[in-house]
Amino acid sequence: MDENLDDIRIKIQKMAEVAEVNGEPLAWFEDLYDSANRKSEDIPWARMEPHPQMVEWIANRPEINGKALVVGCGLGDDAEWLQEIGFDVTAFDISKSSIDWCKERFPDSTVDYCVADILSHPENWENKFDLIVEIHILQVIPENIRDTAAKNLSLLLTNNGHLLCIGRLFESNIVEQPVPPWPLGRVWLESQFTDLRLVNFTRFTSENNSIGDFPSLPRFIASWQKIDY
Ligand SMILES: C[S@@+](CC[C@H](N)C(=O)[O-])C[C@H]1O[C@@H](n2cnc3c(N)ncnc32)[C@H](O)[C@@H]1O
Repeated sequence: MDENLDDIRIKIQKMAEVAEVNGEPLAWFEDLYDSANRKSEDIPWARMEPHPQMVEWIANRPEINGKALVVGCGLGDDAEWLQEIGFDVTAFDISKSSIDWCKERFPDSTVDYCVADILSHPENWENKFDLIVEIHILQVIPENIRDTAAKNLSLLLTNNGHLLCIGRLFESNIVEQPVPPWPLGRVWLESQFTDLRLVNFTRFTSENNSIGDFPSLPRFIASWQKIDY
């Protein structure tokens, strides 16, 4: 019988707590993808379609093109969409099972899928990408290593490259939970990308679209550009 979403969330909480205690706070992602046995219903963030706000943001910016990097690509829908509209896409995830799953879902894909960690990215990725897409990644990385992950994102951009971030937005009335996802504050986000120029920062909720979980929670879509001074 399928576990319902509440059961899966409880399971994730436990996995995340165990991983933290074991000193490998991101190890639970592999455990989750592996134990899902290719049932996307067991991956609470799997939309099985590109993120609608990403699609709208890119569609309004036809001048952005070239090499794209999808960070923590999950089941691959954002990467596939970007490749379809003409980007040359590299997509990576810390979980080998998620990357294997992407390759099985899209056997004819020309996306370069690989296992990698944003905390220790391959050196030859630096200054390489015209677009970096980060959807719901920084918010699942514990605070003590989150700054490193954020700083690495800007290293990978070309001059004039764009960074797109989408996630849960921290507001003062939100009670922080001990387990992920942790909503991100605008002040923290802006403090991470001081070498980039903020292009837009928009708060939204998902009440009018198909993003399933917790539709009334505040979220943000924000982008920065690396300016060659
Ligand atoms: C909440 S999911 C979001 C997945 C996808 N971006 C989406 O929107 O559906 C977070 C993803 O980031 C991956 N991840 C977590 N830490 C990572 C890291 N340090 N480097 C690369 N991927 C990571 C996880 O394995 C998981 O697939």
